[in-house]
Amino acid sequence: MDVLKLFNELKTQFGPKFRFLEDKPDETIDSTLKACWQYASGHPMSAAEAMKYPLSPLDENMIKHLVDLLERRTKDIPLAHLVGRQNFLGIEFLTDGRALIPRKETEILGKKALELSFELAKGKDTIHIMDMCCGSGNLGLAVAHLNQKVKLYASDLSEDAVSLAKDNSHYLNLNNRVQFESGDMFAPFENGKNYEMISLIICNPPYISSAKVKKMNTEIAAHEPALAFDGGMLGFKVIQMLIEKAPVFLEKNGWLIFEVGLGQGKFIIQLCERINKYGKLQTVEDDQGNIRVIMAQKA
Ligand SMILES: C[S@@+](CC[C@H](N)C(=O)[O-])C[C@H]1O[C@@H](n2cnc3c(N)ncnc32)[C@H](O)[C@@H]1O
Repeated sequence: MDVLKLFNELKTQFGPKFRFLEDKPDETIDSTLKACWQYASGHPMSAAEAMKYPLSPLDENMIKHLVDLLERRTKDIPLAHLVGRQNFLGIEFLTDGRALIPRKETEILGKKALELSFELAKGKDTIHIMDMCCGSGNLGLAVAHLNQKVKLYASDLSEDAVSLAKDNSHYLNLNNRVQFESGDMFAPFENGKNYEMISLIICNPPYISSAKVKKMNTEIAAHEPALAFDGGMLGFKVIQMLIEKAPVFLEKNGWLIFEVGLGQGKFIIQLCERINKYGKLQTVEDDQGNIRVIMAQKA
């Protein structure tokens, strides 16, 4: 078979029917076709990963499978669910409807958390970090995968999300350094054992107002859990709990680092100041200068 001819025919047939979301910049017509092609040939990988490999010839059944995948993609089924993978910080994660698909924008938080984890680990054998609202586990597991000194505690209210995070931990061979729990925010860890011994708490909380969650694009609303987005009436419900409770678990000079929505940064800095438990407060901006990450160091 002529691989290039088939690729170009499928591109002409399906390309104009795909709709792409702004927060999934890895997905283009080419990367979508390539990821589905690799999946149909028995090699599941994300859109970002699929761009690195040449396409191999497909047999008749594989071509049928590929066309079926592409048709489903035109019906707004997320690509990450069709191929079961999403790349985050260069690492392939398992993805399905149990948790939010890791987003590219969250890599700003992931990169800063990783950098902090290396700084905090200097001169130590182990550091204890928490991934609160862990979803698929992408943030905490990426940091634990890239920094061998990390012992990770991760939790989420959704038992489904925790089961996917456990699958990812197994997939990345990290089970011996990770403890997963399910429950409301810090509740699973409120037995005193972890008080004042965590060096870094990472969190990508739900921060969209309930009214906006109801109006989200079908690709998101029909396929990803609303719990992953819904931050209550004003969007700050979970963030408020996070910044109030984190100091109980952080060691002195330990950091809480979390993602915020567009336009929320300045107000949330004020919320952190009011709590009076943090010394340094810093922000990380995206390329357009928007505050996307807040870093709060326990005084
Ligand atoms: C924006 S998603 C982040 C998921 C993942 N950390 C990521 O970056 O892709 C927010 C997560 O918070 C969880 N969540 C919502 N309310 C929660 C609560 N009260 N306690 C713990 N987790 C909660 C949701 O289930 C969801 O997995």
